[in-house]
Amino acid sequence: MTAHRDTTASDVAFEKWVTHFTSNRRRHDAIEAMIDWEAPARLPTGVRAILVRSFQRFELGEGGDGLHLLRKAEGCGTAQREALRLLVAEEQKHSALFRRGLQHLGAGTLTNHWSDLIFTRLRRALGLRTELALFLTAEAVAMPYFVVLARSGPDPVIRGIGTRIALDEEHHLAFQIAQLRGGLAALTTPVRTLVLLLWWVVAVGAATVVALDHGSALRACGLPVRRYWGAALRSFRRAVEATVS
Ligand SMILES: [Fe+2]
Ligand SMILES: [Fe+2]
Repeated sequence: MTAHRDTTASDVAFEKWVTHFTSNRRRHDAIEAMIDWEAPARLPTGVRAILVRSFQRFELGEGGDGLHLLRKAEGCGTAQREALRLLVAEEQKHSALFRRGLQHLGAGTLTNHWSDLIFTRLRRALGLRTELALFLTAEAVAMPYFVVLARSGPDPVIRGIGTRIALDEEHHLAFQIAQLRGGLAALTTPVRTLVLLLWWVVAVGAATVVALDHGSALRACGLPVRRYWGAALRSFRRAVEATVS
């Protein structure tokens, strides 16, 4: 099966995503210009250390493995490929924002972390549509983290980074849904049920990894881990419902 048949929406429908990602750069610049990057981070030492650990892991995860994804999309239409290229560029900018956040917190980056290594290996082994489903899962369960950073991060720079990324991720979720929509409808009912079950298992696992890995940071922003976990799975459920509708 070619990568082109792996997708379901027509290529023309992806032109609006190329327009969105292209014009979104202006919004990035506008939000980033409002962040006072030079402001000192006046945070308790413990909170600073918690955020450093969390940001280091997101810096790796958001940097991701875009080249592999784009290679898998070589058989897709021009607009979809271009939209995917722009999506990967946005993810690289998210990684850069976390690097900037780490500078603000007086810390450096990591070269690797177990959660990122597992996720990257898993993604490389998958076909395009399955990788997109995994991408959507990661974004859906990370959404409450970005939202709580934006709303209740402990200083304005942290809140600015959260705002900047959360706004992008809302659109990323919609873009992944647009690419995956209809794919499940082509399956027989037992296969679709099995796929949905497996998808939920992966989502519960992903939300648990975020809860374990970033629980202290979530608490530092005022979100208890159990509430995060519920919010992550509700976010995933909304994404799945939109994909199968
Ligand atoms: Fe991202
Ligand atoms: Fe994203």
